[in-house]
Amino acid sequence: MEGGTSYEENHIPELIKAAIRAREGAYCPYSGFAVGAALRAKDGSVFTGCNIENASFSPSCCAERVAFFNAVSSGATDFEQIVVVGGKKGEDMVETTPCGVCLQVMLEFCDPDTFEVVSVRATGEYEVRRLTELLPYGFRL
Ligand code: THU
Repeated sequence: MEGGTSYEENHIPELIKAAIRAREGAYCPYSGFAVGAALRAKDGSVFTGCNIENASFSPSCCAERVAFFNAVSSGATDFEQIVVVGGKKGEDMVETTPCGVCLQVMLEFCDPDTFEVVSVRATGEYEVRRLTELLPYGFRL
């Protein structure tokens, strides 16, 4: 199907499943908000992460950054999209968009005009946004 996006080329459903699985690992005793993320590299590999909190608060890390650091430490550097699922632990997902720190980490590794951030609602519907929409003036050296 030249020029179009065929069903087979839509990786979002498989990434949503991976993010939901990753969310089960969230360690969030302080906020009670559990997040999972699934990051797809251009070669098709998928890296996941969950949020990991800390009693001292500031060492806590968001699911998106855990997914990115997991990917980069495995040698991946070219990314296509990230799916984020979040909500109160044990409850349905609410549409969750990444924090500013995570967006800045994404900018380090992704083309902001093409990289997609996918936020999923409890119904399974989702919003797809480009990184440039979410972080139009990110820091660059
Ligand atoms: N959190 C994420 O992991 N990703 C987001 O996109 C938003 C916030 C985490 C940080 C903290 O552990 C908890 O959710 C509440 O802010």
